[in-house]
Amino acid sequence: MTMAPESPAATTSSLLATLPGHWYTAPGIFRQEQEHLFEAMWFCAVRGADLDRPGAFRTVRIGRESVLITRNRRGEPRAFLNVCRHRGARLCTEESGTVRRSLQCPYHAWTYDLDGRLTAAPNLQRMPDIDRVERGLVPVRLREWLGYVWVCLAEDPPSFEETVIGAVAERLGDAESVERYDVAGLALGRRISYDVRANWKLIVENFMECYHCATIHPELTEVLPEFADGLAAQYFVGHGAEFAEEAQGFTVDGSEGFGRFAGIAEEQDRRYYAITVRPQVFLNLVPDHVIIHRMFPLAPDHTLVECDWLYAPEVVASDRDVSKSVELFHRVNAQDFDACERTQPAMDSRAYRAGGVLVPSEHHIGAFHRWVTDHVPTPEAEECP
Ligand code: FES
Ligand code: FE
Repeated sequence: MTMAPESPAATTSSLLATLPGHWYTAPGIFRQEQEHLFEAMWFCAVRGADLDRPGAFRTVRIGRESVLITRNRRGEPRAFLNVCRHRGARLCTEESGTVRRSLQCPYHAWTYDLDGRLTAAPNLQRMPDIDRVERGLVPVRLREWLGYVWVCLAEDPPSFEETVIGAVAERLGDAESVERYDVAGLALGRRISYDVRANWKLIVENFMECYHCATIHPELTEVLPEFADGLAAQYFVGHGAEFAEEAQGFTVDGSEGFGRFAGIAEEQDRRYYAITVRPQVFLNLVPDHVIIHRMFPLAPDHTLVECDWLYAPEVVASDRDVSKSVELFHRVNAQDFDACERTQPAMDSRAYRAGGVLVPSEHHIGAFHRWVTDHVPTPEAEECP
């Protein structure tokens, strides 16, 4: 195990402050975050398997944009801005669905194929100047990794290898560790969506800290006793929290889970790894399943979180009962989001104008704050009052 540069003991004398309260409430800051984070970085949008055939589509909110993700006739994923090129009507208003072979705007019936090309429009033959590709849907760059479609709205996207794959490798200590779970080959056992009335950064900070575990996560600390000490596993490079001796599996009552993934290393067995992929993904690895959270920040005080529990395909195909393993992290999610919602209203309080405190061992959360403030210009009117 490689330690982060400073050990917790070395940091006891230096308390850090969190971001000031208005960073969690100000509309102007949220707008800057939309522009400089969510619209500028790789954003984990949909699970590839949710688009199970040509014409299956999902629409997702990324920053200020609606993005439409589908599969073309050859089954390849395609992403477009969900905006008709004629007069700007929202092309698809549903969150998901399937079209047969084309996307038709409900306003004046301009029609696009699944590669985004304009193929038909009323009286199109009388408009010879219209270039069907140029007036096609605006494409959005995408990558597939871990079985998900990641999209980036930036003209000049940051390196996916560095900012996504590299971030996971950095946390785990090497590039192979995550590959051993073969996440792309897993099947969806359960999905739960959480409508959280809190700022997305409170959710990230909560995920990165473990100071609250002993107070609010009785079931989790039973299975991972070291979490009761308050030290976040994410503080240490390559560290996974070890299961309690009496725990047979990562389940709500410590009962047996499923067979461990064939590919994982001996040292990954009976361990839980938590990884934050900025700006909006949490990856949780245990020996027999993987839990992925995707956040969709909707407003300064409103975030949708979609959480997937993934298992070996044979576990899902066999109809084996996954509820005990789902229940453990579902409770953790509910406990965490409840805590975030309890915190959100106080972000506007004068008591929190200068922010709160990061206790020793939370320098990695300080690093998250610095990453945010480095990327997000503060609108002048919303400088700390
Ligand atoms: Fe879509 Fe007119 S706005 S066809
Ligand atoms: Fe928690």
